[in-house]
Amino acid sequence: MKIYRNILASTALISAMATGAATADPSIEVLHYWTSGGESLAINTFADAFKAAGGTWVDQPVSGGGGDAMNTVLRSRVLAGDPPGMTILKGPVVTEWANAGALANLEGVAERDNWNEILPPLLAEIVKVDGVFSAVPTDIHRIDWMWINPDLLAKVDGTVPTTWDEFNALADKLMAAGITPLAHGGQPWQDATIFEVVALGLGGSDFFRKAFVDVDPDTLRSDTMIAVFDQMRRMRGYVDDNFSGRDWNLATTMVMNGDAAIQIMGDWAKGEFMAADLVPGEDFLCAAAPNQGGYIMNPDSFAFFDDSNATEDEIAGRELMAHLLLTEEVQIAYNLHKGAIPARLGVARDQFDACAVQSMTDLDATLENGKLVPSMAHEIATSSANRGAIIEVVTEHFNSDMSSEEAVERLVEAIELAN
Ligand code: BGC
Repeated sequence: MKIYRNILASTALISAMATGAATADPSIEVLHYWTSGGESLAINTFADAFKAAGGTWVDQPVSGGGGDAMNTVLRSRVLAGDPPGMTILKGPVVTEWANAGALANLEGVAERDNWNEILPPLLAEIVKVDGVFSAVPTDIHRIDWMWINPDLLAKVDGTVPTTWDEFNALADKLMAAGITPLAHGGQPWQDATIFEVVALGLGGSDFFRKAFVDVDPDTLRSDTMIAVFDQMRRMRGYVDDNFSGRDWNLATTMVMNGDAAIQIMGDWAKGEFMAADLVPGEDFLCAAAPNQGGYIMNPDSFAFFDDSNATEDEIAGRELMAHLLLTEEVQIAYNLHKGAIPARLGVARDQFDACAVQSMTDLDATLENGKLVPSMAHEIATSSANRGAIIEVVTEHFNSDMSSEEAVERLVEAIELAN
């Protein structure tokens, strides 16, 4: 049984709407993990819009890319009865929190702002729980990208690889020239990011879905999954000695500085290049990783906690913020910094760079041909329990000499235990 409180039902807002005058001073506390250069610029576009509309923004950043550290803070705050006003919640995790009765119902804002019209059905579906809008999508990130240093590529007469065999051949060439092929940060979610990109590339979109959405045991222990772990073993050989624990944005800096040739990472990495005033196609290259024509999507979204102790100012703050996130101005300003593409439909493409336009084109194509898949590493494909189980095995394999055969058996066991 879900206990929703419609945030539009507050007396303050109803009277504000009736009189056209604000009776509350909107305020919002925002728990997030967007602390890298590009991410900070991106979240500041929300803060700026909120402040410009008269709101007070209380920033609560928890560093740690991918959000696992923030999710720990979130759980303990909710357990302590002190939920934040707004936080990043994505994919099935939105449903998990909504089913626990923790989230505010956004139907009022959604109706007034026509979310059913301005959002693609795919995104609306992810953030609706039993037909009720329970979070606001803000962007669509793509995961299966390579970010490449063009000078290092030229140094070995390399070309952008389109298969994993070509990738390995290029990486071997780079190694022979004394260049670190792969810029990587050894944190579990980053290992999992590479893993799912390799899985799409070697197995294709149907395999990906069976493995990470259906968590089908036969697929998890299949020869294809063994080949995925074999490739992960090769990837381990392509990273530098100091990869362990490195933050993702420091790995991006390695590509910028010519300390490594390629990073495999979602397009928030582009936000870092852009924050450093680098130009795509010149100072760095973006190219889809070998992916059999697929696309791994990772839409971010924000949810609002239904806090019975919330003041009228806080309730007004949530209402205002939920509205601002999907305005065209905020969608453009924010996504230009975030490196993603807008969640909102119909935003003109002309302000976006070539990488974003490629993402838009490939997204449309894969929506048509069925090769669009949800990210496992970034909480879209499956429950947080299944995700945790998969990531643990992937990381253990990456950081040991575990065989691929053992890894797939461990994967099946971990999924059984998680369910
Ligand atoms: C989030 C992105 C974020 C990235 C690195 C991903 O899981 O979806 O918004 O930039 O992690 O922190």
